[in-house]
Amino acid sequence: MGEPPASDRIATLYSAETISDRVDALARGIAACDLREPLIVAVLKGSFIFAADLIRALHRQGLEPEIDFIFLASYGTGTTGGTVEILRDVESAIEGRDVVIVDDILDSGRTLLFAKERLAARGARSVRACVLLDKKARRLESVTADFTGFECPNRFVVGYGMDIANRYRELPFIGVIETDD
Ligand code: IMP
Ligand code: MG
Repeated sequence: MGEPPASDRIATLYSAETISDRVDALARGIAACDLREPLIVAVLKGSFIFAADLIRALHRQGLEPEIDFIFLASYGTGTTGGTVEILRDVESAIEGRDVVIVDDILDSGRTLLFAKERLAARGARSVRACVLLDKKARRLESVTADFTGFECPNRFVVGYGMDIANRYRELPFIGVIETDD
């Protein structure tokens, strides 16, 4: 057996219970939109746990959405440059459908803007976005979410699907890594 990784101290920002209540409220908001042939497009990897909880909350609201995935990688930071690459595209038919993109964090906005434009270009009837966390302070692109879980402070967060160097996705809550300084 290998050594377990050194553990960081992680302070809870949003507890599992707080997240669960908010996900139910988001599902009620989405259900109120009366979507036609709803297609949920979850952005991998970070949104997989959020999307899994959200679609079950949508089921409790009586919806029968189809679910698909787009795997996007965003490269480059700062105010110039920054490109988004598709590692895996949506397979479902999109034309004429009401699409809801589900992502973990709206940060610079590059990923969401790219996904919205791509799905609109493929003929969606409408494209909405549902993000769990919105870091408004870091926006570089003019893009907004139609449904937002929490307005998040400008801190790097982990857990509930979100990672740092592929760690901590398994945490049932969202937290911030505490530093000693
Ligand atoms: P954007 O294109 O800059 O908006 O990138 C958003 C993506 O960056 C999110 O979907 C996350 O995958 C990732 N990201 C941004 N902030 C964080 C964070 O605090 N923790 C983990 N991932 C993050
Ligand atoms: Mg992401």
